[in-house]
Amino acid sequence: MSRGQARIAPSILAADFTRLGDEVEAVERAGADWIHVDVMDGRFVPNLTLGPVIVEAVRRSTRLPLDVHLMIEQPERYIEEFVRAGASSVGVQVEACPHLHRTIGQIHEAGARACVVLNPATPASAVEVVLPDVDQVLVMTVNPGFGGQKFIESMLPKIELLRRWIDQQGLDVALEVDGGIAVETIGRAAAAGAEVFVAGTAIFGAPDYAEAIAALRRAL
Ligand code: DX5
Ligand code: ZN
Repeated sequence: MSRGQARIAPSILAADFTRLGDEVEAVERAGADWIHVDVMDGRFVPNLTLGPVIVEAVRRSTRLPLDVHLMIEQPERYIEEFVRAGASSVGVQVEACPHLHRTIGQIHEAGARACVVLNPATPASAVEVVLPDVDQVLVMTVNPGFGGQKFIESMLPKIELLRRWIDQQGLDVALEVDGGIAVETIGRAAAAGAEVFVAGTAIFGAPDYAEAIAALRRAL
């Protein structure tokens, strides 16, 4: 994916789960590019959310790519299951992956795009060696576990550094940000070099999803 094509990925964590199919269809109609799905296990992060059954239901509700973010320990145990359920990309937290290179290969073998995710305290260098092997890097701009948190400004230099490495090596790696993305913050993340923007509260918390997504694009 070349830079300049900004993608907006609503996170269903902030959707109304009693009407999940309608919510997904609504953000698709409103101009979303991808659907972001937050999987939490109550161990890697304190919160518990959803598993492959829900991913499979979301898959049946939209044709958009499903960007599945695994905030779980030992993600290698579940990769094939999430890809079978319809994940287009699978993101693993590098902190949960002692054999990250192998896990990236496993995602590719399962047939999905491989994304590596960095917690706020994890340096960019944790993915430097595997950069040519991945399709996507996700910089967490909040500590994972919950929606509705405040964007951590000190992540901007990390985004800039990753952008520089990706460009210098001419890699086809999408740079994504997740957490606290709103009209007030998206411009700074974009200026630092991000091109995929996950947003939960800023979209599903708004009265008009199309207007919320348009406002994010205007603020890029
Ligand atoms: C946080 C999740 C995010 C979250 C973003 O652990 O990974 O995807 O849903 O929510 P907002 O946009 O409300 O910060
Ligand atoms: Zn996420």
